[in-house]
Amino acid sequence: MRPISRPKAMKTTENNKKRIALFASGSGSNVFNIINYFEGSEIVEVTIVLSNKKNAGALVHAEKANIKALPFNRHDFFESNNVLRLLKSEQIDYIILAGFLWKIPENLISNFENKILNIHPSLLPKYGGKGMFGRHVHESVLANKEKETGITIHLVNEKYDDGKIIKQATCSIDESETLLSLQEKISKLEKENFPITIEQFITKK
Ligand code: GRF
Repeated sequence: MRPISRPKAMKTTENNKKRIALFASGSGSNVFNIINYFEGSEIVEVTIVLSNKKNAGALVHAEKANIKALPFNRHDFFESNNVLRLLKSEQIDYIILAGFLWKIPENLISNFENKILNIHPSLLPKYGGKGMFGRHVHESVLANKEKETGITIHLVNEKYDDGKIIKQATCSIDESETLLSLQEKISKLEKENFPITIEQFITKK
């Protein structure tokens, strides 16, 4: 796990900011949005961004914002405590999954009980579970001629897409809806709702 960006010049352990770790596997548009939202926040600090993909856009966004960004592999995540140790050493309070595709192992669930949030691009429990990610979700929603869909922000437990729901937001599906137009609607809902829901969850509002 070699750093691919420099850590922030100063850590903020001297104040009461909650330190969050973002996990992402993909392009990282949510990571980008969350970083921007909390820039200058006195409540939340995005302390580190971690990815199971070396070339993830999410790491690039973090690097540009001068936030520590690290890739990790299966051994780090599933077969050792490397990721857990890193989170502990960074004094992470909450883990945010922003388009992260690996299942969260037991060592993280038990050490961050009720402190891991995920975003899913459907109205869970509909269109959740293994294999339901990215375009597969929206293709299934369209194939079933649903009249509405949306996003779900939920706590993470040992099963895929199964923890307590914290927030849902909906959008309608038009007759002429395409995969692309639906992806855009969902992306907009995610950007509008994810950072503020993280903030409200952390501040218990
Ligand atoms: C989002 O649709 C999120 O709901 C899902 O993965 C996608 C991540 O997109 N879990 P991005 O990498 O943040 O653009």
